[in-house]
Amino acid sequence: MSQAERYVFTQEHPSPSGTKPISAERYISPELLAREFDTIFAQSWLCAGLASDVQEPGDYFVFDIGRESILVSCSQTGEVVANYNVCQHRGARVMVNDLGCVDAFVCPYHGWKYAPDGKLINVPDTDRFSQGVCKEELSLKPLRVEVWAGMVFVCMDDDAPTLAEFLGAIQAMIEPFRPQDMTLIEDQTCHLECNWKAVFDNFHELYHVEHIHPQHALIFDCLHCNTDMMDLGHSRVVIEGFTVDTRLDLPDYPTEIMVPQMKVLGMDPEDYRGRVLDVRKDVQKKRREMGPSLGQDYDLLSDEELSDIVQYNIFPNLIVVLQPENMLIMRAMPHATNPNKCHWDKFTFIMEPDASVAERHNVSFNMGQDTPQIPEERPERDVFEQEDIIAGRKTMTITIDQDIHFIRDVQRGMHSRGFGTAFLNDDECRIQHYHDWYNHHMGI
Ligand code: FES
Ligand SMILES: [Fe+2]
Repeated sequence: MSQAERYVFTQEHPSPSGTKPISAERYISPELLAREFDTIFAQSWLCAGLASDVQEPGDYFVFDIGRESILVSCSQTGEVVANYNVCQHRGARVMVNDLGCVDAFVCPYHGWKYAPDGKLINVPDTDRFSQGVCKEELSLKPLRVEVWAGMVFVCMDDDAPTLAEFLGAIQAMIEPFRPQDMTLIEDQTCHLECNWKAVFDNFHELYHVEHIHPQHALIFDCLHCNTDMMDLGHSRVVIEGFTVDTRLDLPDYPTEIMVPQMKVLGMDPEDYRGRVLDVRKDVQKKRREMGPSLGQDYDLLSDEELSDIVQYNIFPNLIVVLQPENMLIMRAMPHATNPNKCHWDKFTFIMEPDASVAERHNVSFNMGQDTPQIPEERPERDVFEQEDIIAGRKTMTITIDQDIHFIRDVQRGMHSRGFGTAFLNDDECRIQHYHDWYNHHMGI
């Protein structure tokens, strides 16, 4: 099935609020930030974390968003549940660690004890509450939760659509990549000195790629990407890979970024001297042919998906980047009170080679030499500052590091008397589309 056949787009309301200028105010106003928590974050489905972190009874993680803290856990019966992380006695945070596994949640203040599903199970000195303690009523307060594609989504709004309705066509587009079968190999958080939307905007356009990511011209043709805008503010971009920027002179020989990846597939770069534009189609064929022997199941992926890169921006703050054997999940997380700060989360996954795929296809299994190291345990979250990236002490991949170098200055510009509103080009239409839906929620 071709991409065109699979992808059905719904764009019934491309500009729900009308297309309006994007002014600097929304990046710097504390009042607007406070409103965003009620109108954007409290009304949308949010990726709270990873399903792999709440697999066994008692597993939990904490998801903080604005003034809310949400406790996602695996119940005694193996069900994923979400509760507000606030003790019903006097309002303390019940769990303060990010992640873990416990028999019960015990509030650190006076010791109220909740089961992994959030039900109140013990109150010290119950007899000192002469009015009685109704455990049902005093259990943690639940909120909506759904698990999809290896992610746990939560929603604070009982009237919001279901997750399936919220994601629309995106679900069927992402599922062939089998994200839930991928393994987390890196978990990073970088504190940024910019508004959360400034960094999210950055990942909504490729106009900057030629200027700050020159290496991409050696393997992607960003100029001719396919862009799709969807209802509710989501969007997608597909970038052809194993090609070159068609604005540059066509090289005679595959580029230095292509060569190592071609060799993994047993392709001889010499065969492509003078015909570099044939590499992409042949990579698709080669991957299709060799996938099973490398333990990779590509049966659900289209030919284009075997060579290209697909990125989804999911309203309001989530990005999923997919290639056949790896995935990035990234989130722009607002600071609770300061519009000039945010943090950027990045989860990196790979599809581990699976010998049973080779067996199923009746070929011998040959684990590729290039397979990244799989950590034995879940990698710990590495939390660092923007300065660590700028000084070269940390990296989130060379491309994201390059973005991070610029983003602080963009935020500074938003405060200038010399700046009013963004002036977007056609390639930046996804930014406008996103902000049209932002305006819709904010009543702007
Ligand atoms: S506030 Fe949690 S036990 Fe008192
Ligand atoms: Fe970038």
